[in-house]
Amino acid sequence: MESAPIRLQIDPLRTTGRRIDPNLYGQFAEHLGRCVYPGLWVGDSSPIANDHGLRLDVISALKTLELPVVRWPGGCFADNYHWLDGVGDRSQRPRRHNLWWKQPENNAFGTDEFMTFCRLIDTEPYLVVNVGSGSVQEAINWMEYCNSNQDTEFTALRKKHGFNEPYNVRYWGIGNESWGCGGKMRPEVYADLYRRFAAYLRPMGGRDVRLIACGSYPDFPDWDERFLAAMQGALDHVDLLALHIYSGWMGEEVNFSNQEYYQLFAAIDIMDRHLRRASELVTAFSTADHRIGLALDEWGVWHRQAVVENGLQQQNTLRDALFAAASFHLFHRYAGTLEMANMAQTVNVLQALIHTRGDRIVLTPTFHVFDLLKPHRNGQLLDFDFSPLPMIDFPDQRQRPALSLSATITKDGSIFISLINIDLERSFAVECRMINALHKIRSIRLLSAEDPREHNSFDLPHAITPREVEPSGDEVIQVPPHSLMTLSLQA
Ligand code: AHR
Repeated sequence: MESAPIRLQIDPLRTTGRRIDPNLYGQFAEHLGRCVYPGLWVGDSSPIANDHGLRLDVISALKTLELPVVRWPGGCFADNYHWLDGVGDRSQRPRRHNLWWKQPENNAFGTDEFMTFCRLIDTEPYLVVNVGSGSVQEAINWMEYCNSNQDTEFTALRKKHGFNEPYNVRYWGIGNESWGCGGKMRPEVYADLYRRFAAYLRPMGGRDVRLIACGSYPDFPDWDERFLAAMQGALDHVDLLALHIYSGWMGEEVNFSNQEYYQLFAAIDIMDRHLRRASELVTAFSTADHRIGLALDEWGVWHRQAVVENGLQQQNTLRDALFAAASFHLFHRYAGTLEMANMAQTVNVLQALIHTRGDRIVLTPTFHVFDLLKPHRNGQLLDFDFSPLPMIDFPDQRQRPALSLSATITKDGSIFISLINIDLERSFAVECRMINALHKIRSIRLLSAEDPREHNSFDLPHAITPREVEPSGDEVIQVPPHSLMTLSLQA
């Protein structure tokens, strides 16, 4: 017997007053494995089609995603990176050892190449300065090189390299994982260093610049409170506190069991717990004059197959894509406090959007999630009634809902809904009812496959790709197992 539809009631007047910051859909690209070379950069003499040395296939795919922000150059690499190595005549740039990722670094892709990349895909750059092995002066010089238009040494250097206009970089991270690869510091020691870096970067950058502090990893939750407490008196120099949360190690990247499939979704609770804890903290340390926001500037699935030896490369299945979608639903709930999130990493590394092989690329299922959820950006988050929610028995003996939903309304009154069904077997009928409005479902898109283990490969590049579903005209829609469905509603 078919079960009764689940009732969804949406009222456009029930806005939560919170806007989805587009920066929640940011990315992170590091000099690690095959992300930058050859994921972004092939050089201008490469047979692979390129624009200023940047591969055209990757650029045009990323452009369609309208990514709001990309963080660079690391990660751990950032605290081992000296920006002057990567500017000027490429044939003269020094070769260095990329300490953490155990590979040579020829510095062909440096600040100007990154800024060109950002211009070509129309995104905001987010730079991370070297605190672990760099100096305050080096960081100030970098900001001068990027943002100054005065008659100074580093402005002149940028102009000499052919870049007349300042880049006006807004986001500046001060160190990366300073509790680990970024210097193995204690939060109090990092806070003292942060004060020094920020004391010079703030007047150099002005109020428009957002200074981002290194926050915790789930293994060191007390880092945030100790850091913020040690920043008393200079808290106005912390604009965002950045957490890192990776999820994974739930079986094989492709051949996972059903239990391991569900275990990955249980990891959303860990993100939720840490986001709640950290958002309460930053709110407590904010004042009427200075609000501290949160960033999650590294996140995503990290399977155990991704190791230093293979450049943290892993396959990306429908399971990973649905995990990303469910994470975005969680991030929406923290809209207002959570101002930025950067998934790791853009190409060929961890939960990549794109895989490259020679002159070919494959868009991963996660790429399509970024594409499908684009209409949520800048929308006002709506409250809704959704019941009765079907539950799933998870391997940890807890029950969690099979369906997750997020709804936003744009300025012109269109409503956008994303629905995730993580159940492996059951499909659910959802009855969509509008209150105080005459909206109708105008378009439906679906990302799913026969099996959540399916993925896009160089042999089958389009195994998982979104498809349009014709709206039937009535209010009941069928949400298949292990799927992401989006609905656009207009009056
Ligand atoms: O994204 C890979 C690495 O994970 C980053 O370099 C580091 O910040 C984190 O530990």
